[in-house]
Order: sequence, then structure tokens, then C-alpha cells
Amino acid sequence: MPQTSPEPVIRARGLTKTYGAFTAVDAIDFDVAPGESFGLLGPNGAGKSTTMRMISAVSRRTAGELSVLGLDPETHGPEIRSQLGVVPQEDNLDTELTARDNLVLYGRYFGLSRAVCRERAEELLAFAQLQDKAGAKADDLSGGMKRRLTIARGLMNTPQIFMLDEPTTGLDPQARHVLWDRLFRLKEQGTTLVITTHYMDEAEQLCDRLIVVDKGSIMAEGSPAELIRRYSSREVLEVRFGSDRNAAAAEEVAAIGRLAERVEVLPDRLLVYTPDGEGALERVVERGLRPTTSLVRRSSLEDVFLRLTGRSLVD
Ligand SMILES: Nc1ncnc2c1ncn2[C@@H]1O[C@H](COP(=O)(O)OP(=O)(O)O)[C@@H](O)[C@H]1O
Ligand SMILES: [Mg+2]
Repeated sequence: MPQTSPEPVIRARGLTKTYGAFTAVDAIDFDVAPGESFGLLGPNGAGKSTTMRMISAVSRRTAGELSVLGLDPETHGPEIRSQLGVVPQEDNLDTELTARDNLVLYGRYFGLSRAVCRERAEELLAFAQLQDKAGAKADDLSGGMKRRLTIARGLMNTPQIFMLDEPTTGLDPQARHVLWDRLFRLKEQGTTLVITTHYMDEAEQLCDRLIVVDKGSIMAEGSPAELIRRYSSREVLEVRFGSDRNAAAAEEVAAIGRLAERVEVLPDRLLVYTPDGEGALERVVERGLRPTTSLVRRSSLEDVFLRLTGRSLVD
């Protein structure tokens, strides 16, 4: 039997949002399959939050088609909102309430009984590793705990699609890893995740498939591994010659025959895109060039973004 792909849970065609004369989201097309972890990766101002708000039926699209769980957000906002979990970019917890009451109250909005809300709140406090903080005021929690509480809150209505807008922005590395672990569990349980981020490592960790967005447009689409294969080399040799010498060194490096697929000059270093980083370094040194430091690493989504836009993802 031929394989039939399941109906997408989100389908966008020519999805557009303008603010006056400014186009924040410019006719984008994408599908999200059930159970998939789908990412929007792009820098500040790319239109990620605007896209999330249109999907979540809190902001109206200007043009194009959009279907969420088979429904149009224009006409079925409440039905869609009841089946989505939403973690907005800025935490909007009720700071005067306890962690537990934030969850219970949110569940009550969705018409769940008090008993169900209490039970679900305890489960989710455990999931978010916040049992010890159940009675603490939301305001007194650390940034990482607030984020986990917002995630727990977004799961109160057992959503079909869980939307997370920059889940770990502003958190320290340890708090990010705790959060990634929680999100990974949700993904393992088959929850459909839609995640925006400007962190390429976050996208690589969490997303099965992603779109790279910049200035309201989709630059590329695929799994992290596919994107790296398509737009970058296997390895990257990073060399530093001192900021005043990088540009001149880049010309010499680029002149070495069959060394690199591409050489990028950043303010502080050169990126030499090559299948074999160690081999490339040997040849750079043979050539008489003496980098002050060198590093060989695998290509990442950061390299993909640089290739696609000529800019770094995090500025
Ligand atoms: N309500 C608004 N009115 C006018 N411009 C907006 C509004 N919301 C967002 N924008 C603009 O749209 C662009 C995309 O914003 P946003 O979707 O928040 O990007 P991202 O989430 O990728 O950082 C930005 O240039 C932003 O300034
Ligand atoms: Mg945003």
C-alpha cells in the first residue's frame, strides 16, 4: 500500500501579517505533522512570535490560509485555543499567586472541575520539578522555575499542540538543560511541539524539522542534519590571526587549492568550510600561515544561517 502522510495539524499557505506598511510575516508556507517537533529558527525580528500568535488565534492574519487542527483561527478561535498549550515569549504568570494556584486557576478557565485541576496541578508540578515550590509565590521563583511553571500551566488542558515561544531565552545553561530535558520527555510522549528559538543548539536538540526564518521569509526547511548537509561542509576549521590580519589571511587561505568549499571572514576569526578540518589546518600551516588559535568542529545550524543570510544568528 502506498504510504499516506497524516493530515497536518497545522497548515499555512501564503501566511502573511502586516503592520501598516511593514510586513512582519511574508507569505510563508509550512506544514506541521502530528507528533512532530517543529521549529522556527531565526534572529530577533524574524516574525516568529507573530507567526505563533496567528496559529494560537490571538492575532489575525492579514492574508493567506491557515488551518490549525483542521480549523480556521479566524472563525474557530475558542475551539483552537482550548486544544493548544501556549508558552508565550514573556512569562505572564499571576505573580501574586502560588505556583499551584497559577495552575489550578488556569485549568478553571478551561472549564475543568476543581478536583481535576488540583490533581492535574500536582502531576504537572512534579513533571516541572516544582513540588517543593508548590506553595511559593510565582514572583519568588527563579527565572528557570518561572519558565517551568509556565510550561506546566500550558499543559493543564492536555493540549494537542504545545506552542513554545523562545522557551529558554534569558536562562543560564543549567536551567536550559533542565528545560530541554522536560521538553524532550513531552516529545517522547508524542506531544506535537512547535518551538521558536534563536539558539541553534536548542533547535538541534529539540526539533525534528525546522524552518529557518529571516525578515518574515522562510530561507530553508528540513531536519537539522539535512540542513547542515545541504548548506554546509562536514567540518569547520576556525582560525584566528588577530583582528587586523584576518581579512588578509582569508585571501591567502582561499588561494590554497582544493582546501575549502568556502571561507567566511568574521570580525574575530575565519571559518574554513571543509570536509577535513585537521587536514586543512596542516595545509594552512604548510603554507606558512601561523594562526594564533585554531579549532576543528562539526558544522552546525549557525553555519547554515550564516550561509543563507550572510549574518550570524545571535548578534
Ligand atoms: N504589534 C506590532 N506592531 C508593529 N510591529 C510589530 C508588532 N509586533 C511585531 N512587530 C514587528 O514585526 C517584526 C517581527 O516581530 P516578531 O514576530 O516579534 O519577531 P521575532 O519573534 O522573530 O523576534 C519585528 O520587526 C517587530 O518589530
Ligand atoms: Mg519573538
